[in-house]
Order: sequence, then structure tokens, then C-alpha cells
Amino acid sequence: MTGRLEGYGAIVTGGGKGIGRAVVDRFVAEGARVGVLVRSEDDASALLAQHGDAVLPVLGDVRRWEDNKRLVDETVAAFERLDVLVPNAGVYDFSDRFETLAGEELEARFHELFSVNVQGYLLAVRASLEPLRESKGSVIFTLSSSSFYAGGGGVLYVSSKHALVGTVKQLAFELAPEIRVNAVAPGGTRTSLGGLNGAGDNRSLADIPGFDAMVSKTVPLGFLSEPEDHASLYVTLASRNESRFVTAEIIRSDGGLMVRGGGRKRKETA
Ligand SMILES: NC(=O)c1ccc[n+]([C@@H]2O[C@H](COP(=O)([O-])OP(=O)(O)OC[C@H]3O[C@@H](n4cnc5c(N)ncnc54)[C@H](O)[C@@H]3O)[C@@H](O)[C@H]2O)c1
Repeated sequence: MTGRLEGYGAIVTGGGKGIGRAVVDRFVAEGARVGVLVRSEDDASALLAQHGDAVLPVLGDVRRWEDNKRLVDETVAAFERLDVLVPNAGVYDFSDRFETLAGEELEARFHELFSVNVQGYLLAVRASLEPLRESKGSVIFTLSSSSFYAGGGGVLYVSSKHALVGTVKQLAFELAPEIRVNAVAPGGTRTSLGGLNGAGDNRSLADIPGFDAMVSKTVPLGFLSEPEDHASLYVTLASRNESRFVTAEIIRSDGGLMVRGGGRKRKETA
């Protein structure tokens, strides 16, 4: 099925790579045109090379109000409408244990992580309110299995993703009936999710030794997902035809973590 978002205008933050990029690719395939907040010229060029004028890459930082405003203004100017916003840009804390962080370090890391993972989402929604109201559009957050469970990150990442559950609920409540607010919560996904560069952390999820095997062993479905595995759920939530009665919903795309059964091993397949 294609054309499920024919004529839609969309925005994805952090859409130059990983899950965000898979959502951009899928939205374009379904007929949408997409404004994409990216951090590098390389990501912008790669998007333009693949999608031409179906995308509008905008360089910026989700932590800054002006960048979010410019992203929305330029997208609406180019595509004349905004039907769906996907706040998605995020950073990770690589499961650093709480007791290993010195007090001063904790203060700086908290501000950096929360200003990307939580404030970045709020600023994007705030900047999009007017055009989303006009189109009776929707917001779709990228959450995480760390929105529900401990152990998939450190306390900063896990608390930031839990905070976004409350954000989905409160915004869904306040912005109804014009704007629907939902989320997709991926589990372990093969990406290069990065750390707090302001704190000098240049690690990447892709460099964690054994990440693939660890996720595969933990989730009932038994594999590490790819960014593309989550993308059609965003399409379903974005589509007015498919989800017009759905708001405040969080769809888990995590291989069945909820039924992990207290760590019991799943049965081996032949
Ligand atoms: N990879 C996983 O296992 C996993 C699991 C669950 C949820 N997530 C979430 O998925 C989302 C996307 O992450 P990903 O795994 O695709 O990693 P990724 O690194 O490929 O994507 C994150 C994107 O956010 C951008 N970004 C980071 N800081 C930014 C800033 N200050 N301003 C603008 N852009 C910024 C990066 O440039 C990158 O394009 C994140 O919210 C992450 O928490 C990832």
C-alpha cells in the first residue's frame, strides 16, 4: 500500500540518521513532503540526493527555540501545510551508573540530555501549534522501551524517556480536539545513537560490543530491530484515515519486552 500520506506536509527532527531517517524515507514513499531538522551538511546532502524536492533539510539544534521556529516556518513556506510533526532527535547516556557521576558532572549532563530529549520535543511542538491546528494534524513522539523499563539506559536517559510519557498524555489532553498526540516506543535498534558531546562523550550505540547479541537474547522476538522496522507505525498514526480516533496512544515496537517474564529465557528456535 502506498500513498497513505498523499499531500501531507511533515516534519521530522533528527531525521538525518537512524530511526528518524527511516521515518522520512517512509513518509516520502507514502506521498508526504518532509521538513527535516539535521545537524550536518552531509545529512542534508544525503537527503536531497535521495528525495530531491520532497524534502527540505534545515540545519539546526533542537535545543534552540529559534531553530525549531525556523524549521516550521521554512517547511510551511515550502509545502504550504503541516499535517504531522515527529520530534525524534535524541541522545543517550550509555547506561552510565548513577553513583559513578560526580555532582557537577551530573548537573551538566542532566541539562544537556534533558534539553535535547525533553525540551527539544516541547519546543518543536510549540513551534508547530498553529499550522497543526489549521490542518487538524498530529504529533508523533519517538519514545523508547526506556519509557517503561529500567536497565536500557542510565538514570538520565530512562528518566527523560519516562518524562515524555507524561508529555504525550498532557499534550494529548490539552491539544484535543484539533491535534492528536501519540508516540512510537522502539526497543533496541541498530543505529549510531550518540552521547553527550558537550560533556565530551563521543560514544555511539553502534560501537557497544555485543549490543546485537544482548538485545537478541533479551527480547522475546529474538532480534535487534532495524530503523525501518518501526517506520510504518508512524505512518499509521499520522494518517487521518487510519487513526482519526487515536490520541494519547503509545505503540510499542520492542520485540515483546512486556512479556519477558522476569528474565526467563525464550525457547530456542531450530
Ligand atoms: N537506537 C535505539 O536502540 C533506540 C531505542 C529506542 C528509542 N530510540 C530513540 O530514537 C530516537 C532516534 O535515535 P536513533 O537511535 O535513530 O539514533 P541516531 O543517532 O541515528 O538519531 C538521532 C538523531 O538526533 C540528532 N540529534 C542529536 N542531538 C541533536 C540536537 N541537539 N539537535 C538536532 N538534532 C540532534 C542526531 O544528529 C541524529 O540524527 C531517539 O529519540 C532515541 O532516544 C533509539
